[in-house]
Amino acid sequence: MQRFIIKGQKPLSGEIKVNGAKNAALKFLAAALLSADKWTLSNIPQIEDIFSLAKLIQSLGVDLSYNKDIFQVQAIQDPKTDLDPDLAVKLRASVLLTGPLLVRRGRVFLPYPGGCAIGQRPIDIFLKGFQSLGAKIKAENNGFILTTNGLRGNKFFFPQVSVTATETLMMAACLTQGKTLLQNTACEPEIPFLADFLNQCGAKIKGAGTPFIEIEGVSRINGGDIVMMPDRIEMGTFAVLAAACGDNTIKITNCQPEHAQSLWLKLKEAGVKLKFGPDWLEVQPVKDLRAAVDIKTQEYPGFATDLQAPFCVLMTRAHGVSLIHETIFEGRLFYTDILNHMGAKIIMADPYRAIVVGPTQLYGQKIISPDIRAGIALLIAGLMAKGETVIENIYQIDRGYEKIEERLQGLGADIKRVT
Ligand code: EPU
Repeated sequence: MQRFIIKGQKPLSGEIKVNGAKNAALKFLAAALLSADKWTLSNIPQIEDIFSLAKLIQSLGVDLSYNKDIFQVQAIQDPKTDLDPDLAVKLRASVLLTGPLLVRRGRVFLPYPGGCAIGQRPIDIFLKGFQSLGAKIKAENNGFILTTNGLRGNKFFFPQVSVTATETLMMAACLTQGKTLLQNTACEPEIPFLADFLNQCGAKIKGAGTPFIEIEGVSRINGGDIVMMPDRIEMGTFAVLAAACGDNTIKITNCQPEHAQSLWLKLKEAGVKLKFGPDWLEVQPVKDLRAAVDIKTQEYPGFATDLQAPFCVLMTRAHGVSLIHETIFEGRLFYTDILNHMGAKIIMADPYRAIVVGPTQLYGQKIISPDIRAGIALLIAGLMAKGETVIENIYQIDRGYEKIEERLQGLGADIKRVT
């Protein structure tokens, strides 16, 4: 099993580039199954979640190949309809395939999807959405069989805002007869990015990026080429890392700063100095974080739940008390126990709220990465800590961040991957 060994408190500075967005790339790989023509996707991050979904798609008989960051997908033959449970359990994003498979094949077997241990993560909204378009659903063999003789456009109001359910139903509606109105949809920037490309390929989607999406079904989706948008979560994570460990200015490049406004607001409130360009930002070194700041996670454009753990780590350096309020997932604060083990002073008020009392000095420890975002947060903690930190289960970091140790070495970090 590989692990990271980090010697903390090294002075970091320089430039780091943001990769293509994981949570866009996963959706494009799935959406490619809507078309029998070739989709060429570039700037795809080479991370474990992408490879897991690629393997699952290949197991359906779809022609998918890649060379570095360029992926080519062509579902020329009718793809198989049953998702392999062993592969599907590796990532929650496997549920995205239900949209394209159901409209193309009229049937799909969806094993209970896996993913991060960050909460229950039910799939009731997906199922209700498909039912509203006329699909029949049967629970069977640790999963669900969805069937249809042809979906029909309808109005569906999402009982709760859900990113992947919005994307999955939007994809399905592209090849559904008639008009589909999706209401109370998620507004994350990856959604209009996907919708714009689908429209270029012949779909008729209006309103993506707002809570109301209208889709007029079409009979085919064509092929096309697309360069993946930059990863806003990676950009935000690097900014927090720079604020936590920067010894000199750190420049973050190839990014879209407008996609993390709520993070910039909170960092500035805490006393971090930021400078922005159209596709870059600079984080100035901070000797002392003057103000502890409260955050409350929300759907986009609110404070991203995927940046909650890194921000919490930063708050261990701030003077005062900050409230970290997670509203999206019920299991996303358990890493705070590990931070306490490293010397932080964090009190869990309930599964959704943690109180960070700062500033505290963190000390290197042997720790285990629980999930992607908590994993990268603990890695930042290791860079801040006195002494040596060993992180086990780094598969959970590799799922979301490509060759992170090499990229951080470029900033001066003392981090090694050891087998
Ligand atoms: N929910 C339901 N029923 C459903 C679907 C969702 O109750 O059928 C609930 C969830 O349990 C959660 C809330 O709705 O409480 C919102 O979850 P959402 O469905 O929006 O999350 P997701 O689509 O599964 C995506 C990202 C996550 C990110 C969340 C929130 C992908 C592949 N994943 O998950 O990213 O945290 O949106 O922004 O896009 C990550 O990258 O590490 C990650 C977990």
